[in-house]
Amino acid sequence: MPVPIIIDCDPGHDDALAIMLAAANPAVDLLAITTVAGNQTLEKTSLNARRVCTVAGITDVPIAAGCDRPLLQQLAVADDVHGESGMDGPHFPEPTVDLVPEHAVELIHRILVEHPEPVTLVPTAPLTNIALLLTRYPDSAARIREIVLMGGSTERGNRTPASEFNIHTDPEAADIVFRSGVPVTMCGLNVTHQALATPEVLARFEGLGTELGDICAGLLAYFGSTYRRLWNMPHPPLHDPVAVARVIDPAVVECVEANVTVELHGRYTRGATVVDLHRYLDRPVNAKVAVTLDTGLFWDHMVDAVAALGRTGLERPGARG
Ligand code: BDR
Ligand code: CA
Repeated sequence: MPVPIIIDCDPGHDDALAIMLAAANPAVDLLAITTVAGNQTLEKTSLNARRVCTVAGITDVPIAAGCDRPLLQQLAVADDVHGESGMDGPHFPEPTVDLVPEHAVELIHRILVEHPEPVTLVPTAPLTNIALLLTRYPDSAARIREIVLMGGSTERGNRTPASEFNIHTDPEAADIVFRSGVPVTMCGLNVTHQALATPEVLARFEGLGTELGDICAGLLAYFGSTYRRLWNMPHPPLHDPVAVARVIDPAVVECVEANVTVELHGRYTRGATVVDLHRYLDRPVNAKVAVTLDTGLFWDHMVDAVAALGRTGLERPGARG
């Protein structure tokens, strides 16, 4: 039976591919896509989710917009990483799929209540919507099978020396999630930096011969230029699909158990995930922490997903008879 999931995202180049992986892989049943402010404003991340679903032919999954700012602090978008649109690079046609007229938190809550089985939440963005859900509807925790998130790191950050973007953008929300008692799996930078989009990976997307394959290659090419400019990295890491891959096939992402605490007060470390891998602190395990990625299997899943959607989505003009 496919695992029922909801993706909560802020597209975002890597969120876009996470949506495609979740929509195409038969091991998961994508029940909804919800959006939040993060990489860009809520308006832009919601538009981008609609753009992705349009080009990928994902027409039967509700998309709902959620919170337009973090719980306590001001929103600081990542336009240096994702550009003015939040998904700069390839051209996207006018979206033909709409948002549903329901707040993301209400949609997630309704699905949790109505679905016959507990649902897995896959946040690939600041955790504002998820924290609000757990705060407003505490009973919904029992209906969540697990939260498999992209965020944090066992090592250093990418927004400050200590903190990763999704956690740094809304540390109070992340704190609520990690302390919620819901099973949490954290796919942080330490593992997503193993998912590097090399020229060989881009060639596999282009080699699909579909419009969607070209769009993915274009997204990764833009992301690559960002990573060279900002971090001097030769290839960009594809963060968000790693969390989806963990749900699809746990063997792709190896995890260890640890206590994870979100630093809320550090003068230079606010938003850091303090991951106690060696049990220095007398604190209970509250998370599975991803440590190793089977890179080959990961990219196979990702390319297969885009290939499958390309058959139903827009065809590249003049490609393959
Ligand atoms: C995370 O931050 C965002 O920019 C990406 O979409 C990803 O979710 C990586 O730190
Ligand atoms: Ca994201």
